[in-house]
Amino acid sequence: MKNKMDRSLSIIGPFKKSQSKYWKQIYELRYNIAIVEQQISKQDEFDDSDNENCCYFVGFLCDELIATCRVENDSESTDGSVARIERVAVKKEYRSRGFGRNIIDAAEDYIRMQKKYKKITITSQLQASKFYAKLGYSQFGEIKIIIGIPHIEMIKLI
Ligand SMILES: CC(C)(COP(=O)(O)OP(=O)(O)OC[C@H]1O[C@@H](n2cnc3c(N)ncnc32)[C@H](O)[C@@H]1OP(=O)(O)O)[C@@H](O)C(=O)NCCC(=O)NCCS
Repeated sequence: MKNKMDRSLSIIGPFKKSQSKYWKQIYELRYNIAIVEQQISKQDEFDDSDNENCCYFVGFLCDELIATCRVENDSESTDGSVARIERVAVKKEYRSRGFGRNIIDAAEDYIRMQKKYKKITITSQLQASKFYAKLGYSQFGEIKIIIGIPHIEMIKLI
């Protein structure tokens, strides 16, 4: 029998919230990570961007949703050439097995396919910035405290 280490992630996406049968599971995963683990408020975690403007990716191990992220246009980009990846989350017991990288790779593949994008930005919690650096993102700007947590902007040219 295969153990957890042997399994690979099955990724589904992109899809919109309203089209998706997975929203409840995404909500549960993000609730447990952001609200329970990281003490972020529900209003901050489930913000206005969780609407039809963004699309979602999910990663399953068998029938368990263990990873997610969302993608949208960077609202600060005047020419629409910048995409943002947000709400990246991997279930605690499955971390450090490459699944975070897998879900970002899928989001990046989709972003590249859109052709209009030249850059991807991520507002990273400082504690996660080395994860994004491993995936080719560079820090820019100053550390900012957002919702009480130190964040740093990360960018990748595509
Ligand atoms: C950040 C997170 C998504 C990373 O997912 P993961 O599945 O553990 O990451 P991976 O196993 O794919 O790691 C890829 C690489 O980044 C490194 N890495 C991952 N998290 C790291 C961290 N916090 N600090 C330093 N390096 C890290 C891994 O060691 C690995 O390096 P390698 O390629 O040399 O082996 C996950 O820890 C998580 O969900 N954290 C809680 C939510 C969160 O903080 N989200 C980000 C908010 S901006």
